[in-house]
Amino acid sequence: MKKIIAPSLLSANLSFLYRDIKMLNESEADWFHLDIMDLSFVDNISFGFSFIKNIKKFTHKPIDVHLMIVKPELYIKNFKDSGADHIHIHYEACYHLHKTIFLIKKYGLKVGVAINPHTSIFLLQDIINDIDFVLVMSVNPGFSGQEFIDNTYDKIKDLKNLILKKNSSALIEVDGGINLKNYFLVFKNGADILVSGSTIFSNSNPKNIIRKLKEIS
Ligand code: DX5
Ligand code: ZN
Repeated sequence: MKKIIAPSLLSANLSFLYRDIKMLNESEADWFHLDIMDLSFVDNISFGFSFIKNIKKFTHKPIDVHLMIVKPELYIKNFKDSGADHIHIHYEACYHLHKTIFLIKKYGLKVGVAINPHTSIFLLQDIINDIDFVLVMSVNPGFSGQEFIDNTYDKIKDLKNLILKKNSSALIEVDGGINLKNYFLVFKNGADILVSGSTIFSNSNPKNIIRKLKEIS
């Protein structure tokens, strides 16, 4: 399968947002990854519904929404109406994960479950056949520009084995601290999709970085 690159707009320059959207549209990036934070699940606040709506107006690429919020089940319709194509909810933020997964599917959206660095992949075995993606956090969520946690390599391998054992079609998406030094091993261990923020947007030639990240494909 072709590898997927999902740049995170958390690292975009919001003073020149249209320039960055245009750059992503012209690039080999596959999806737009939007990090939604509520100052409660994480110690940061980012974008709201209108931001997603405005991004949606200017791209045809899928909008991959990563909800770092408590009680995500209350806002699924709002995110769908804003233009989300995929919604990731955190395992740690859901009392009734199975119910929320099916709520997202009811709206016709693809669904992912995100797991923090301390959360075992084995906790997903009873829902792995119900979801489209597992979003493996390779940093603690909340901020871009953090260092990749090395334990993630083993986690991806274990998750890949679980997916194969269960005959699940879930794809593995890895988010946080991805750079040109580690991306190859992350893919090699079983990742299908990489999210990248600072590595792409801090470079003077972001399209070139996106092309490099896809080189393994
Ligand atoms: C962190 C976010 C990430 C972040 C990635 O909470 O989920 O998507 O923006 O940024 P980098 O690639 O800089 O770690
Ligand atoms: Zn994210």
